[in-house]
Amino acid sequence: VHIDWDEAAAEKGGYEHFMLKEIFEQPEALKSAIAGRIKNGKPIISEIKELEEFIKKDLKKIFIVACGTSYHAGLAFKYFMNRYSKIDVDIEVASEFRYMNPHVNENTLVIAISQSGETIDTLEGIRIAKEKGSKVVTISNVFGSTIPRESHGAIYMNTGPEIGVAATKTYTAQIAILYALGAKIIEITEGLTEEIEKILSDIEKMPEIYEEVLKNAEKVKELSREYVNYQHMMYIGRGFGYPTALEGALKLKEISYIHAAGYQAGELKHGPIALLDEQFPVFAIIPKDSLYEKMKSNLMESRARNANIIAITTEGNDEIKELTNEYLFVPEAEEALYPLVIAPIIQLFSYYVAVLRKLDPDKPRNLAKSVTVE
Ligand code: G6P
Repeated sequence: VHIDWDEAAAEKGGYEHFMLKEIFEQPEALKSAIAGRIKNGKPIISEIKELEEFIKKDLKKIFIVACGTSYHAGLAFKYFMNRYSKIDVDIEVASEFRYMNPHVNENTLVIAISQSGETIDTLEGIRIAKEKGSKVVTISNVFGSTIPRESHGAIYMNTGPEIGVAATKTYTAQIAILYALGAKIIEITEGLTEEIEKILSDIEKMPEIYEEVLKNAEKVKELSREYVNYQHMMYIGRGFGYPTALEGALKLKEISYIHAAGYQAGELKHGPIALLDEQFPVFAIIPKDSLYEKMKSNLMESRARNANIIAITTEGNDEIKELTNEYLFVPEAEEALYPLVIAPIIQLFSYYVAVLRKLDPDKPRNLAKSVTVE
């Protein structure tokens, strides 16, 4: 009897690439990330127990430090805290933070986000913050890695290892954990509200929502065929849609090598719209949220420049059919949760574009999973 034993295929659990496997692991990954951290809409972050006094008495500002995809998760958190708390939140990419004069001090909580826990810029960033007397909490996926070890508090993501260079399941786990951490900080400082509890209980339901969202994979694959031969792509979003636009553009450029950029849709008129024509398509993050009408105008402006448009919107928003030929629906969610709900779609889109361009999404050229040197 001849048995074909392909070890690599076995590791990929039947998927063609690790990236696809990790995209599809998101229901499970998210479940483990929030296990013991959110319960019936309440945040439980035991990792910051020793910082509770500090948060209660001394905390005046939160500063987020991260790189790449982790930075985009941090940006979603900034929008979350802006909406639901009074605490001042600043964010900077670590490679800028470490060379500027960051305004952090003994009243600042620095939140470092690093999947690998080894990114040199983020590490140097937290060292500077500690010298200035700040407290540091790190969210990481690698137990015992350097950044969490050098922090006052370490929150491990528990998603299991991520092999694909492009971050997928760790991105969504980061957002979920950050929201839980944010809710915990709000609970300590200002008190939880029903609105926040609702968001946390919706995060508890996210694994099932992901099962639904992932059923769109074939549709995303079909749509992606239309975009394989472009050289550029512009992602636009507003509010909570903005981090998604940045992350969508990053995913596309890193694995498909198509030039892509994410913009706040309101900035189109200050420059980017000059780029648009039939050769320059737009990927619009346009859920039915408080900024929907504003996004709709931007979508129409883009269409008037003959740009091909792919839109991600909320189930039931049938108006989209008049606005563009290419669209995908995601389940309705609280505004703050759309970064989570839409993430698998932008990940799948870039994955299929890369594969159709005959590229290996797991090992993009010139990129490393963990950047430990400058
Ligand atoms: C590299 C990886 C990205 C990641 C970034 C930050 O560029 O390819 O996927 O987002 O580093 O990494 P970290 O481990 O600090 O989250």
